[in-house]
Amino acid sequence: MMSKASIKAIGSYVPEKRLTNRDLEELVDTNDEWIVKRTGMRERRIADENEYTSDLSVKAVKNLIKRYDKQVEDVDMIICCTLTPDFKTPSTASLVQAKLGIKNAGAIDLNAACAGFTYGLYVANGLITSGLNKKILVIGAETLSKITDYSDRTTCVLFGDGAGAVLIEYDEKSPSFISAHAGSEGEMGDSLYCTDLSNNMFDEQLKDSGYIVQNGREVYKWAVNTVPEGINTLLEKSRIQLGDIDWFVPHSANLRIIESICDKSNIPIENTLYSLEYYGNTSSATIPLSLDMGVREGLLLPDQTVLLYGFGGGLAYAGQIIKWTV
Ligand code: UT7
Repeated sequence: MMSKASIKAIGSYVPEKRLTNRDLEELVDTNDEWIVKRTGMRERRIADENEYTSDLSVKAVKNLIKRYDKQVEDVDMIICCTLTPDFKTPSTASLVQAKLGIKNAGAIDLNAACAGFTYGLYVANGLITSGLNKKILVIGAETLSKITDYSDRTTCVLFGDGAGAVLIEYDEKSPSFISAHAGSEGEMGDSLYCTDLSNNMFDEQLKDSGYIVQNGREVYKWAVNTVPEGINTLLEKSRIQLGDIDWFVPHSANLRIIESICDKSNIPIENTLYSLEYYGNTSSATIPLSLDMGVREGLLLPDQTVLLYGFGGGLAYAGQIIKWTV
């Protein structure tokens, strides 16, 4: 079905506090050279103790409102993509709705870990194109620092906090969404998890720390195989040629993963937008942060064709080919 949904504005926010590779050297047995070489990361932003995902989300939306002179009082759905909600209930989206003074809007959280934002776009496009909604805020926001174990060098060097938001409106004339693709391999769920109510998965007792636990090598191997296949599927579904893609915006998990995907998929690395160097892996927020960096730097322009691809915990993945309309 032809999309009837169009991205009309973008905004983002990252906390002030920086955690550099040098700072991490004080916390765990690591060093700047290892982190840069193995991940491409130099810094990440860390939320204050009293700053939560809903706070970052609200600031990202306020940034969007200011820059695009948009109203959000009349949005009819708020989708907050996050794996670090402030509470189990109320949802982060409901908190955002209240803090922004929005009335008569639906509010849901969507957890697909690092594929969250691309899943959020998938759902928003479906809701608008089907006629159920007219104006949706899709937010990708995380405070991963609150579930990161700063004594585990295999994870603490990776994660950071941040938020990005887009406003999507009904618009038949210039729709953004060209093709989409989503899936999950829950059988590999124990490669990347954070326990909550249960510490049992597939009859296996998991490390019950409340922190992110990751088998980095397993997720790495999975990502560099799964994402290039997904890119092919997206191209086939859209009948768009690879050469017509102006920008590739993958989840910013690791620069080596991005380079390997680009290599396998014949995408020039120069045509890639990523946010990991100064923000680290912000899960649901990496893709909107990368898009907004592209906009602010004058790289990402209206009418360009963009391939987005989120992947991670689940293990889940979702990709989109979109026309950039902002
Ligand atoms: O966003 C959700 C999806 N997540 C991902 O996509 C993450 C995927 N995985 C990765 O990005 C990488 O696997 C990591 C960055 C997590 C790790 O990089 P790697 O090249 O796969 O390293 P490794 O786990 O194979 O470890 C290599 C060595 C090990 O030492 P030995 O066993 O060779 O002696 C580790 O103990 O590096 C050691 N190591 C470290 N050394 C210094 C692991 N972490 C660190 C560290 N500093 N922070």
